[in-house]
Amino acid sequence: MSWEMVDEGWGRRAVEFATLSEPSNCREYVAVHHRLRVGAGQRLLDVACGSGLAIELAAIRGAICAGIDASPRLIAVAKDRNPESDIQVGDMEALPWDDETFDVVTSFRGIWGTTPNAVKEARRVLVPGGRLAITVWGNVGRSPGAWMMSPFRWATDEKVQHQADMVSLGRPGVGEAFLAGCGFDVAERFEVPFVFEFADPETFARGLASTGPAYEAIQSIGEEQFVERATDLATAHLRDGLALRGQVQLFGYIGTKR
Ligand SMILES: C[S@@+](CC[C@H](N)C(=O)[O-])C[C@H]1O[C@@H](n2cnc3c(N)ncnc32)[C@H](O)[C@@H]1O
Repeated sequence: MSWEMVDEGWGRRAVEFATLSEPSNCREYVAVHHRLRVGAGQRLLDVACGSGLAIELAAIRGAICAGIDASPRLIAVAKDRNPESDIQVGDMEALPWDDETFDVVTSFRGIWGTTPNAVKEARRVLVPGGRLAITVWGNVGRSPGAWMMSPFRWATDEKVQHQADMVSLGRPGVGEAFLAGCGFDVAERFEVPFVFEFADPETFARGLASTGPAYEAIQSIGEEQFVERATDLATAHLRDGLALRGQVQLFGYIGTKR
């Protein structure tokens, strides 16, 4: 699929993604920024930045931020949130910045084993000694929040297989080898806190339906069916007086440009 097609799935409910789904990711963003010691004056690029919450949090820490995503409708939200940042619509495999522009590049569940050119591009725009931090899913199926991602499997077998290929980097040694092969020294794989949290089954269903992998399931079963089945699924997990909440295993890698 060409990058111009990404918006069809990821952009169709951009505002719902930004307000119902993306806020759950804040734990991940804060943990990775903290580990990178993101701070005043650092030049930071967020690749596959979605609707720009990670950029907003990095800017609060004083970083000078840029971002790129293939979805014009997500980028519209990201720009609205971050009017001071250099945020562009484009392909992570052809970054529109000069060599050695950034001190830090981040990508939160945006760069996969299926996208080596994106890592090469991240390396190109980093200064020597600059760092790339990526997060990737770990063992989703064994995570307490596995049920929250199970509706993605309502897509065709072919699309479900592609989703599985995209999470291969979370396996021990795979991410390290991938980044090393792209010219980075990788110190370690580390666990990153990640929790989905929703107010109620209806909000869960709408939040999930706003994502790209949900769109693959929606193409198979239709949006109405998707929302109805996801609402029923979440209703079975209701706890009196508490949010719908599910932790999912996520790993991070930080590579330093050789
Ligand atoms: C799993 S989402 C992560 C978004 C964001 N990092 C977050 O934390 O919410 C993947 C993102 O990758 C973007 N994307 C997919 N292919 C892309 C490409 N070739 N170039 C740039 N962005 C791309 C999608 O539009 C989507 O926003």
